[in-house]
Amino acid sequence: MNQNQPFQARQISDRVHWVGAIDWALPEFHGYRTERGTTYNAFLVMADKITLIDTVKKPFLEEAMSRIASVVDPQKIDYIVSNHSEMDHSGCLPEMAARIQPEQIFASPNGVRALSAHFHRELSLTAVKTGDRLDLGNASLQFVETRMIHWPDSMVSFLDSDGILFSQDAFGMHLATSRLFADQNERSVLQWQAEKYYANIVLPYSPMVGRALAAIEEMNLPLQILAPDHGPLWRGSEDIAWIFEQYRRFVAQRPTAKVVIAYDTMWHSSEAMANAIAEGVERAGAEPRVLSLHSTHRSDLATEVMNSGGLVIGSPTLNSSIFPSLADALTYLKGLNPRNLTGALFGSYGWNRKGMGELQEFAGKLDLQLVDEPLFVNYVPTDADLCQCVGLGEKVGREVVRRHAE
Ligand code: FEO
Repeated sequence: MNQNQPFQARQISDRVHWVGAIDWALPEFHGYRTERGTTYNAFLVMADKITLIDTVKKPFLEEAMSRIASVVDPQKIDYIVSNHSEMDHSGCLPEMAARIQPEQIFASPNGVRALSAHFHRELSLTAVKTGDRLDLGNASLQFVETRMIHWPDSMVSFLDSDGILFSQDAFGMHLATSRLFADQNERSVLQWQAEKYYANIVLPYSPMVGRALAAIEEMNLPLQILAPDHGPLWRGSEDIAWIFEQYRRFVAQRPTAKVVIAYDTMWHSSEAMANAIAEGVERAGAEPRVLSLHSTHRSDLATEVMNSGGLVIGSPTLNSSIFPSLADALTYLKGLNPRNLTGALFGSYGWNRKGMGELQEFAGKLDLQLVDEPLFVNYVPTDADLCQCVGLGEKVGREVVRRHAE
């Protein structure tokens, strides 16, 4: 190892070194609040044919190059494999390719098209498909296309000699940590961040994820390490089985007995209604989770919703629209396409009800299975109105408990 490099590689197996970058300060990832930062994992395979698996986001070029140079002269790298063309993994590919001068760069057929459309320059790209193998001399890489996890170009690569599956976005999370392996990190943090990542990045593509998971499992690969491009790596049969099991659960989106009540409020009327609905949900034996969108980020809401059986939405009318925080969160949530949600709507209005109509439109777009008519009150709810809210919560709670037990 060249100790003169400011950033050092980390060896993860006989032939493989981690040569990625840690983005401790990343505040958000296209709309997703990344409160714990992230990593851009890249891997150097020191086989007869030296191979770099993925690169990093462009601002981290020098950090990754330094880690590579701590192991080997970068110009000795023979191949680069691009498992995913999104720019957090390919952003510095042109600069790295110019410095490394590899014989070839491999990507899926969609990856070749995507990289060309991103960089508009000659990159010596070669397409590889599911089942293709790349001979590295004393090792080989086997490729499996995993379209829509996370983009149409995505693929995974399996290094047979070391039992490592390089899985790009799949099985990853946004968590900046110098503890490279999952078993060195706190499980509750891994659980939340893995769920948050899936809910905010992968959820819309769950049917494809289910098929890809089945295809990978059918291959019965002798896995030692599962190495995503973000967050810690999974090693050993127990941890690998754990994250696969989490993914099966995420894909299924079976309704739980939790009901998210997401609202915002101007003069506390919608808030009072939300609290009364929570009372009813609890009475029905379900678990209410009341989230004020004044203080809950859209990406945390999405994570809670993925793990729920119900979604109850409430808003005041502001002028002639729903509250801006609701418009933001519901637009975002619609794109993630959560499924299997029992729902209800509520809110307060003053001199027009147009915002309430918008709430109903969003309920349709989210395919919420409403248990009753929306409950909208004029200005301030009376005790009788709040009792109706409790009743609405009970209806949602009973339906969620029933569907959870199915
Ligand atoms: Fe980590 Fe889809 O990029």
